[in-house]
Amino acid sequence: MTSTPPAAIPVQVHLTDADIDAALVADVRAGLTAAPKHLPPKWFYDARGSELFEEITALPEYYPTRTERAVLAAAADTIAASTGMQTLVELGSGSSEKTRLLLDAGVRAGTLTTYVPQDVSVSALQGAVDELTVAYPALSVEGIASDFSDLSVSIPDRPGRTVAFLGGTLGNLTPAERAGFLTGIADALRPGEHLLIGVGLVVDESIVVPAYDDAQGVTAAFNKNVLSVIDGRLHADFDPDAFDHVALWDAENEWIEMRLRAQRAMTVHVADLDLEVEFAEGEEMRTEISAKFRVEGITEELVAAGFDVTRVFTDTDDRFAVVLATRA
Ligand code: AVJ
Repeated sequence: MTSTPPAAIPVQVHLTDADIDAALVADVRAGLTAAPKHLPPKWFYDARGSELFEEITALPEYYPTRTERAVLAAAADTIAASTGMQTLVELGSGSSEKTRLLLDAGVRAGTLTTYVPQDVSVSALQGAVDELTVAYPALSVEGIASDFSDLSVSIPDRPGRTVAFLGGTLGNLTPAERAGFLTGIADALRPGEHLLIGVGLVVDESIVVPAYDDAQGVTAAFNKNVLSVIDGRLHADFDPDAFDHVALWDAENEWIEMRLRAQRAMTVHVADLDLEVEFAEGEEMRTEISAKFRVEGITEELVAAGFDVTRVFTDTDDRFAVVLATRA
């Protein structure tokens, strides 16, 4: 048997290790010296964290991924027809697993020529690009490794773009960050181009809390992994096992907040920052917000950013919405 040499992998890397380290240094110093302490969720996603997130999506309690998939499956042809998408740019594409529904629809419609997956995890992106290049020989697949908020890099200029931001990741941003991010996407697009955004909807606390505090403890491991990331990259001595996973519903802000709670008083050293951090027993550090939305609220936010909302697709239990917006 002859073997074909591997094709050059079309992934553009716009993140050097030095950039990532500089951002991590700034975020960790700011977050660990603040009161209360906090860390941004983007640092969950090293190779191990991306794997743990993939495991989360298969948990019985974690409904968002499978619900979004069902909504996309039902809506994909309508989305393809109403956008006429030539280029699909996906921010935070991860494994691109659900995106295949949109790629299939775009190919069936005969309009789609190019898929641009963007992700912060080079390992997840490279795996996805390799698989998609084989699965969709008719498409040009151009991976971009970047920070999704770096929109001039993350949304390259291509014809007939639909930008997809799925999975509910918008909810990880604070309301102010969201406004800036949505306006930035609008500014990157031409009038008539599209944004397709997946958001978790506000559901009963008895449904949403277990989704972020599963019985098997996978979410707990995912949450604590951020400490291992800091230990590995910044030579810190966090003991992830000395923290408990906390997931609580903030009814006023309508978001889930994940925290890590120190089991005992301790001093953590972050060698690369020359920083000593004291934790009191029971002290909680915020590691993620995951906001849930109402259709009226997300519509207002999109309109304020410069979009018209074209269609809103939801599941029958109203747990998740896929919103199609058009740059006004
Ligand atoms: C990938 C950001 C959409 O907020 O639901 C899963 C991440 N956090 N379990 C989410 C996550 C805890 C997830 N997003």
